[in-house]
Amino acid sequence: MQNRFSRRTFARLFGSAALAPTALTNLAIPASAQTAQSASATRSFPQGFLWGSATASYQVEGAVNEDGRGPSIWDTFSHTPGKTNNGDTGDVADDHYHRYKEDVALMKALGLKTYRFSVAWPRVFPQGTGTPNPKGLDFYNRMLDELLAAGIEPYCTLFHWDLPQALEDKGGWQSRDTSEAFANYAGYVAQHLSDRVKHFMTMNEMSSFVDIGYRDGRHAPGLKLPPAGVNQVRHHAVLAHGLGVQAIRAHAKPGTKVGLAENASACVPVIETPEHIAAAAKAYRETNAGYLTVVMEGKYTDAYLAHHGAAAPKFTAADMKAIGSPVDFVGLNVYTPSYVRADSSPAGFAMVHPPASYPHMMSKWLHVGPEAIYWSPKLAAQLWNVKEIYITENGASSEDVLTPDGHVYDSDRVMYLRNYLTQLHRAVSENVPVRGYFCWSLMDNYEWADGYAYRFGIHYVDFKTQKRTPKMSAHFYREVIARNGLA
Ligand code: NOJ
Repeated sequence: MQNRFSRRTFARLFGSAALAPTALTNLAIPASAQTAQSASATRSFPQGFLWGSATASYQVEGAVNEDGRGPSIWDTFSHTPGKTNNGDTGDVADDHYHRYKEDVALMKALGLKTYRFSVAWPRVFPQGTGTPNPKGLDFYNRMLDELLAAGIEPYCTLFHWDLPQALEDKGGWQSRDTSEAFANYAGYVAQHLSDRVKHFMTMNEMSSFVDIGYRDGRHAPGLKLPPAGVNQVRHHAVLAHGLGVQAIRAHAKPGTKVGLAENASACVPVIETPEHIAAAAKAYRETNAGYLTVVMEGKYTDAYLAHHGAAAPKFTAADMKAIGSPVDFVGLNVYTPSYVRADSSPAGFAMVHPPASYPHMMSKWLHVGPEAIYWSPKLAAQLWNVKEIYITENGASSEDVLTPDGHVYDSDRVMYLRNYLTQLHRAVSENVPVRGYFCWSLMDNYEWADGYAYRFGIHYVDFKTQKRTPKMSAHFYREVIARNGLA
């Protein structure tokens, strides 16, 4: 049923000839229609807007035992029975380690201007610290050369959750030493890659790996620490970010930019009136107090410290100075809206918890709320005077089906992307300084504890054969990039 509907929708949009097996690859829009559409396009993005896509090392690379890579906490966790959906692991994933050339070709065919990838810390320092493994960095050297030859600008994340197991064995993020080890690793990578990488992100989604991994126990390392422990882990994560910023600045080539990619809770005023908008701004600052706010302000908010009381993190003035090291840009991963309303409490806001009927994508947590991608960068720019923002992730999971004619008609993902991009366009039209957008993800991959069943890619991956197939969303995105806007 879902497929028949998708095919009909597709035929309506592109003509029934477009349903022929080859049509998707060419996206058979007649030249006359293309001219008409670009002439009438009213939703253009600023010239030079960076259209990109993103992946992360453990989710795509595979090759976990190759070229001296050490184990990460995700190897341990995913191999522990009962921890992941279907017992899935990242052992092979997309086999990107061996197929990166094919994957860069996919990016080129899409017209991507930029690609966000992450370096696997345990490839570069198999023990987390100590002697680096040159073969680990070689992989990224090969991939960077391939990207640059294809005219695609690399954006590099240094920590996308695959902590070396050797560090976890010594306390992991519960130990301050891990923050120091991260800075050492970040400086080393920046020194070696900054001849070709001009934008580094220290951390990806601190709030996810801390809260889900160390509080809820659903992600690696699978701990359920009490509040004081979680708050200390959180402090070590933001400290690692700050020390990492300093190390990158000390070791990278001049002109290298440093930021982070955080999934700041995307506060959306439930009704767009001045009182609810003001409440959303307060909520943005407070709900992100342990992560983006402390990074941007170099101090914990009074409300954060009061709320945690005796369980608040232990820190020094030097820690806070490092944490608040100025960043060149802010990356925001935007998926789910957090609705906010004005409230007469001292805080001045209240969260509006969505009813069970709220629409979501395949991942139940992924509520569809396109305004999230308007308000998150807008509030960040407003609160902290940020001048350079990227949407470092946005995308959707779907129950994709590869049909017998060899296509994936993911009309739900096309709908999702079109609506979010419409709201992003609204933001850039108001001069919110968003400079680029990275679609999550280039291809289906290892969705952490949800395994391979939850597909976020705009390319379908057959995990038995590793064949990649562009979905309808890839064709949609290619058109967006070609037009630099939504036609
Ligand atoms: C955020 C994470 O950075 C990424 O690793 C994950 O796959 C997507 N969200 C989707 O859940």
